[in-house]
Amino acid sequence: METKITIADLLDARRKNQKIAAISCYDYTTARLISQTDVQMILVGDSAAQVVLGFDSTLPATMDFMVTITSAVRRGAPNIFLVADMPFLSYQLGKTEALKNAGRFVAEAGVQMVKIEATGAYLDIIKTVSDAGIAVMAHIGIRPQSISKIGRFKAEATTAQMAAELISLADQMIAHGAGSLLIEGAAEEVAEIITKRCEVPVIGIGSGKGCDGQILIAPDILGLTQGPGPKFAKSYGNLAKQTIEAFNTYAKEVQSNKYPDAEHSYHMKSGELEILQKLLKDKT
Ligand code: KIV
Repeated sequence: METKITIADLLDARRKNQKIAAISCYDYTTARLISQTDVQMILVGDSAAQVVLGFDSTLPATMDFMVTITSAVRRGAPNIFLVADMPFLSYQLGKTEALKNAGRFVAEAGVQMVKIEATGAYLDIIKTVSDAGIAVMAHIGIRPQSISKIGRFKAEATTAQMAAELISLADQMIAHGAGSLLIEGAAEEVAEIITKRCEVPVIGIGSGKGCDGQILIAPDILGLTQGPGPKFAKSYGNLAKQTIEAFNTYAKEVQSNKYPDAEHSYHMKSGELEILQKLLKDKT
């Protein structure tokens, strides 16, 4: 059986100052490819609502949808540390609901951690889920599920006051049982301070080099997303171009009757066509 990366491996990496590479991914096929790389962590992010379903925010992601895609990712990458994003309204309604939904991700999709977008209002929820034995990643900084309240995202912790608040929030998350932090869109200096003062793996997105690891969404890494994304969304390929070219070549081959050729078609066994033709002829 393949060895699975666990929280102990991530803590080891942090201790040895080895950076953790994480990817947000939403499907079996991509997960299978990631499982053949040195990436240590996959998050099944609720950004799936945008990049898979085409909504303009993460809010429409539902529990059923997230559980379905998370279990697909687990089947594709049985060896990688797997985190599921708790979608909008899966934890905001109270401790019982939060625990039930976190438990679904563990029991039905095999995740090793759940991620909760957290303010001070959710400390009890984090404690309840963590006390039940489910590891929690507290997502602080920019929290996309709050889009309707704030209108548009801007960098976090850019003043001393904001920085002190974010640092205090991080401390409280850890004190309430968070086993990891994800810091989104915060000033690099502040993310580094948080990373140094806590003892859990800290994953950053758009929060500079000082975190224990980094995460980007798979479609950005592959260059599949089009249009200007956030400043930190670096692509390492141009699969959009290659994908459009492949689809177009296929369309041209179908339209010119070049595809399917003999190599891509099934054929009757030798001599069978002649027998069939005779049969058909005898019937008429
Ligand atoms: O939903 C998501 O994919 C995320 C990452 C961008 C961190 O939360």
